[in-house]
Amino acid sequence: NDGDLQGYFDAIVAADQKVEPRDWMPEAYRKTLIRQIAQHAHSEIIGMQPEGNWISRAPSLKRKAILLAKVQDEAGHGLYLYAAAETLGISRQELVEMLIEGRQKYSSIFNYPTLSWADVGAIGWLVDGAAIVNQVPLCRCSYGPYARAMIRICKEESFHQRQGYEILYTLSRGTPEQKAMAQDAVDRWWYPSLAMFGPPDSDSTHSEQSMTWKIKRFSNDELRQRFVDMCVQQAGVLDLRIPDPDLRWNAERGAHDYTQPDYGELMQVIKGNGPCNRQRIEHRRRAYEEGAWVRAAAAAHAAKKAVAHV
Ligand code: 3HC
Repeated sequence: NDGDLQGYFDAIVAADQKVEPRDWMPEAYRKTLIRQIAQHAHSEIIGMQPEGNWISRAPSLKRKAILLAKVQDEAGHGLYLYAAAETLGISRQELVEMLIEGRQKYSSIFNYPTLSWADVGAIGWLVDGAAIVNQVPLCRCSYGPYARAMIRICKEESFHQRQGYEILYTLSRGTPEQKAMAQDAVDRWWYPSLAMFGPPDSDSTHSEQSMTWKIKRFSNDELRQRFVDMCVQQAGVLDLRIPDPDLRWNAERGAHDYTQPDYGELMQVIKGNGPCNRQRIEHRRRAYEEGAWVRAAAAAHAAKKAVAHV
């Protein structure tokens, strides 16, 4: 009966084992996983837009090839994550339609414009860096398909972060204009990257329950702090300034004190009022509509092949 099933589920989570698609799970556990995995998948696909903007404008063939590979990786990450979400009994088509109709979210960070080539570096260093800090703990998430998707994604994300860091390193040691361009990008992407970790723990609606279910292993503020501490050291090597005059090492805490991002802005961006929200969704809707014939053709071909093998 349900009591035994709940007990069995609780025992799996308590023992740090994995809940698999065919295991019984509380409906609310399934629902929050669909919400989070779908949002994660949407983020990967929407994230291709700001970065893709610079593929045709990359300063060299080498930079273009690397950026192309990175954007293709993001599409693959979206694929793994939609596949993980489908194991929870919802189709990719439904998820994409919910995204386009604004009934599902994607990461706030991709609603900011990429104004210069240095933004590709800042996204790699800061946004992919933040994604790694957030995604490594997700490799130990209690839901098997999500945890396994994360292991592969984290490996590829490290390449993304390195290529961004290297772009900034090159610019920072280039001409004064190049260094200024790199600093301007860091100035614009720093606070939105901090906000990517979500609202403060005090305003986080899902954290407590997600941590009980071992979906979320660390709180939003814990991961944000970890990210700040990681970036301070790297900014030193890049010889670029973090745009926070109150950033300083706090020996008692063993961590850096820092200025919080504007959470009012985060709420506005999440609500759809960020600089690029409409453009991002409009682009996604158009791509979905223009791709309908490809999906129909692939489905018809698969159906024919299936009949041929009967
Ligand atoms: N952007 C958009 N919405 C956000 C958000 C953000 N940065 N942070 C929080 N939210 C939303 C939540 O979805 C929730 O809204 P809802 O209840 O309507 O769904 C609300 O704000 C309250 O936030 P919570 O802290 O309670 O929500 P979570 O427990 O889900 O924590 C999270 C937020 C830490 C982002 C968590 O969902 C998570 O870890 N998600 C998986 C990671 C992810 O999505 N990363 C995307 C980064 S981009 C990326 O990976 C691409 C890479 O290549 C750069």
